[in-house]
Amino acid sequence: MSNHKSALVTGATKGIGREIARQLGDLGYTVIIGARDLARGEATAKELIAEGIDAEVVRLEVTDDDSIRAAAAWIDEVHGRLDVLVNNAAIIADGDGPVSETSAEALRASYQTNVIGLVSTTNAMLPLLRNAPAARIVNLSSELASLTRVGDPDSEMSTILTLGYNSSKVAVNMVTVMLANELRDTGILVNAADPGNCATDMGGWDAPRTPAQGAAVAVRLATLPPNGPTGRLHAEEGVLPW
Ligand SMILES: NC(=O)c1ccc[n+]([C@@H]2O[C@H](COP(=O)([O-])OP(=O)(O)OC[C@H]3O[C@@H](n4cnc5c(N)ncnc54)[C@H](OP(=O)(O)O)[C@@H]3O)[C@@H](O)[C@H]2O)c1
Repeated sequence: MSNHKSALVTGATKGIGREIARQLGDLGYTVIIGARDLARGEATAKELIAEGIDAEVVRLEVTDDDSIRAAAAWIDEVHGRLDVLVNNAAIIADGDGPVSETSAEALRASYQTNVIGLVSTTNAMLPLLRNAPAARIVNLSSELASLTRVGDPDSEMSTILTLGYNSSKVAVNMVTVMLANELRDTGILVNAADPGNCATDMGGWDAPRTPAQGAAVAVRLATLPPNGPTGRLHAEEGVLPW
């Protein structure tokens, strides 16, 4: 078993995921770039290695069970454990929109990646996380998953009309709470992170926050001390209402 702390970040080829990998690498973790496109994953790892980070790549398409199984088997063989899992990969599907206009296909695609992919990846990695002394799981969520915020007509969140995305992230919040409860006696802490609106392909390039600022919220949760919080949705300013 490797002595280095290892961290898997799904969807780490760009955006916030790549920044989470960079920041965990700067903290001394061996970062495993989860990439559905291996060539792009290798390019990201090369970039991080050039900055002095210990980066590896694994092919990981979160909607493909064979890919998830193979990734877990590879991490088991190389590391024998996993200290941090960051479930970052997500999409806003084509055809997502207001409730009255969202296609069934868009809903299916949103849930397939953002919820089912996240749960399948987590379950495949759980034996490895249990092998680590104090593993941390971080699920990327959103302020758009706060029913309190979206339900407030004066909140900007009530104006963002993407049913598949918003509701799939609400499901991510429930996964977070239920898994935190399930793992409460294990020392594994499970939290959801709202990175805030960051300038990425998903967030739009005129968004107010940098991917690095968004990543910092997840990295803090990935490196919580013992007895840190579990089963909460955190933003930079603190815990968000459900
Ligand atoms: N940006 C924001 O303002 C914002 C706000 C709140 C929450 N978030 C959350 O933060 C996380 C990262 O967002 P981002 O803005 O960095 O998004 P992004 O730039 O679109 O990057 C998404 C990453 O996920 C990967 N991905 C998508 N589907 C995948 C799949 N089926 N299997 C494996 N990887 C997959 C993408 O890979 P490819 O490059 O191959 O497509 C990419 O690496 C997401 O969970 C998002 O919901 C973002």
